[in-house]
Amino acid sequence: MLHRLRHAASDLEIGGSLEGVPYGETRFVSYEELMRLPQVSVTVSDDTNFGKTVEISGVELEKLPGVLGAKRGASMVIALSDDKYAAHYPAAYLHAHHPLLVLRVNGKQPANWPLGVDGVPMGPYMVSHASYTPSFRVLSHEDEAQVPWSVVRMDVRRESEVYAPIEPQGEAASDPVVQQGYVIAKQSCFRCHSRLGEGGLKSNRHWGDLAEKAKNDPKYFDAYVVDPKKINPKSEMAASPEYDAATLGALRRYFASFSGSTP
Ligand code: HEC
Repeated sequence: MLHRLRHAASDLEIGGSLEGVPYGETRFVSYEELMRLPQVSVTVSDDTNFGKTVEISGVELEKLPGVLGAKRGASMVIALSDDKYAAHYPAAYLHAHHPLLVLRVNGKQPANWPLGVDGVPMGPYMVSHASYTPSFRVLSHEDEAQVPWSVVRMDVRRESEVYAPIEPQGEAASDPVVQQGYVIAKQSCFRCHSRLGEGGLKSNRHWGDLAEKAKNDPKYFDAYVVDPKKINPKSEMAASPEYDAATLGALRRYFASFSGSTP
């Protein structure tokens, strides 16, 4: 199923820990081949990308590592969008929420999908769920639906390897507030900010840059997280107006623990 070369713009790029594929190389799978895999159809009424009830069908993300020939233990799926936004699906998320790699919306192929809320096409691929019930809450961060669109690549990875660079280190690891900040950062910030090659590359500010802001300019850090457009009208960062002082404090304490480390 995995091809060395891209044959069509609609091919999905596949990377990560794959049997028989040198790490760092990627392969391609076609839309038609994905359509031949077992399909699941569900009705979606609560995905903000659609703004209305739609019928979606596609392949369950939790089946992908198996059908793509992932190496043992590589059960995490990462969906990468064309702007290098990375949605992470650890095993716990896959089992709790059963996300789908969407292949059809209301029976139609990507070219005929409804446009996204900003009027932009949502293909070639996207991820959505039947309905979404948050499964955890940390301070004022609630387990958030990971529903990227413009998805062009899927990676299968070992969770421990992906999170290793952003795990709290040394003394910070035993600080419960740092650990709360870590849970939030790994689900939210890690989609666009990266460290040592892991995480999304939508932002060119890496973990070390955020660490310096958290340590040296806490007011700026907090204001940026709550409402980035207020500071930078062209910001492409997601706002988190729901974060209270304790949540922002936990994020700062977590990021500050990376201050002075390799960016
Ligand atoms: C949707 C992608 C996205 C997410 C999610 C995101 N950011 Fe950002 N962030 C960006 C981008 C892109 C920039 C660069 C400037 C801009 O567009 O705002 C940025 C800039 C920043 C800055 C300003 C850095 C500077 O040098 O001025 C801070 C601080 C920051 N992010 C913190 C965070 C934290 C903390 C989180 C998690 C709670 C987070 N970001 C989540 C995309 C994101």
